[in-house]
Amino acid sequence: MRTDRWWFAPLITVVGLSAWVIYATVRVFMHKWYWVEQYHYLTPFYSPCVTDRCVEGSSHFGQFLPGWWIIPDAALTLPFLLLFRLTCYYYRKAYYRSFWLSPPACAVPDGHQSYSGETRFPLLGQNLHRYFFYAAAIISLVNTWDAILAFHSPEGFGFGLGNIILVGNVVMLWAYTISCHSCRHIIGGRLKHFSKHPMRYKAWTGVSWLNVRHMQLAWITLGTLALTDFYVMAVAAGWINDLRFIN
Ligand code: FES
Repeated sequence: MRTDRWWFAPLITVVGLSAWVIYATVRVFMHKWYWVEQYHYLTPFYSPCVTDRCVEGSSHFGQFLPGWWIIPDAALTLPFLLLFRLTCYYYRKAYYRSFWLSPPACAVPDGHQSYSGETRFPLLGQNLHRYFFYAAAIISLVNTWDAILAFHSPEGFGFGLGNIILVGNVVMLWAYTISCHSCRHIIGGRLKHFSKHPMRYKAWTGVSWLNVRHMQLAWITLGTLALTDFYVMAVAAGWINDLRFIN
């Protein structure tokens, strides 16, 4: 009986998430234009590049997997990043509402006859989110290392628009990762008295400030990831030149 546009939020969620997944899938299996040799720019979709098909110089952690087409070049990180986002509290809410219509909005009937929540397989696996958080934190460290290595020019130290985009992406990835509900619990959970743990209380207050912005950070990081990848692709393919401030 709701007469407002309750369907708008689920609709834009379906459109936004579908567009991102299609773009990311195409890019991950493209196997080219992910590395700019001149400036050492590496897209996060190929980090770390660990198959024997990776362009020389792009593999910062070795090449120990075969380069079969079905294996992503970043096979070590992408599955964990996917599972981290798939089990994220915000994305769960988003796709339960928009893709599964369970329910699509408040006071709108559920699209399904029965409801078992997350009490059975496979949704029981959503509880593994806390472990994927640790994997995502390690992967954010890898992305940070990539962004540092990218301060490179053919002559030595260099700095261009690509660096701003790579660093901006890493900052937002950290903000998203730290704002995770599991992180908030790891930092400030299971304490009886905050007064006896002033450092943890301070950290928990900071994480809580980010945590209320978790949804925004979830979407912003999808945007920065796609933008970073697209920029590296455009420079690597020769469609545009990197805007250099220091050669
Ligand atoms: Fe979203 Fe952990 S709750 S990343």
